[in-house]
Amino acid sequence: MLNRTMLLTLLACPVWLLFAGQAALANEPYRELDRPRAYTPDVKGDARFSDTYRYWKDRSRLDPAMAGNPDEYWKLNWKFMDPPFNQAIHGGHFAMDHGETRFMSLNRTHSFARCLGAGKQGLKGLRAGYPRYVARLGRVAGLEEMIEHCAAKEGVVMQNGSYDNSAVALYIASHSNGMPIRIQVSKGPMRQAFERGRLLYHTRSGRQNFACASCHVHNTGKHLRGNNITTPFGDASHYPVYRTRYELQSLHLRMIECQLDTGAQPLLPGSRAYTDLEVFLTALSNGYPVAVPTERD
Ligand code: HEC
Repeated sequence: MLNRTMLLTLLACPVWLLFAGQAALANEPYRELDRPRAYTPDVKGDARFSDTYRYWKDRSRLDPAMAGNPDEYWKLNWKFMDPPFNQAIHGGHFAMDHGETRFMSLNRTHSFARCLGAGKQGLKGLRAGYPRYVARLGRVAGLEEMIEHCAAKEGVVMQNGSYDNSAVALYIASHSNGMPIRIQVSKGPMRQAFERGRLLYHTRSGRQNFACASCHVHNTGKHLRGNNITTPFGDASHYPVYRTRYELQSLHLRMIECQLDTGAQPLLPGSRAYTDLEVFLTALSNGYPVAVPTERD
């Protein structure tokens, strides 16, 4: 039985508002997002978004003193490890030679290169235009994924993420050295992949509940386990890199490393989510010249 006081209390206390609030919450995404930034990438270059671009935009004025100073080197976004600044011979060069041998044996009939999308120009510029939409796969694919796919057509297993696969990617990328990355993400499946990648980049996950952006956008320059976190701009232009710890590292393998570091469940190289992230990161490298082989500690 409701007495007068109970009725008044019920009316005064907006319980229904609470329920309405919960209904609204149910529509929210399950995952938390890190403050997303609106990127509308441009094929000519997205350097305008980069907070560090002014330090590396001009190769001739890149300050080598910065590279030696841990408090400052992150501003160079690893560009000082790109050729021609880094003249040292390292494992990346040997990997490239190995990649060439593997490529030559796969491409005896030229069908391997054709499958990768090489036209009259041969391998020139191929890397600068990946990831791309591949109609026969019905999806966007990165260079490493296509190497696996096209090698399989030649009867060779060359798994995405394997040393051989990354070595062939490195050899192919070397033919685009100096050419600016140019991927179109303004429409179609590439745009969708870019938008998914952008969202993923800002989505928190894992034991520490970090998004990629928590580190690479909101904590750039900070020390983390002997490293200084860099911005995502221009990253894609120097991958795969030679790591003194892990031999060759493709972009997807690097994502796995970052996810393991933050207690998140990593995915397999070539997974859809990593390819979307790759599209996002590559669009942020638009305009920056391909530079391989490069080295990381
Ligand atoms: C806890 C912080 C943290 C998180 C979260 C994180 N990273 Fe990293 N990441 C690092 C550090 C530290 C490095 C090594 C220094 C550098 O290159 O910035 C690095 C390096 C990288 C590099 C290599 C840059 C280069 O040019 O060598 C890429 C690419 C990258 N991260 C992508 C990602 C992606 C994608 C995610 C999300 C799935 C992510 N990271 C999440 C800390 C993080």
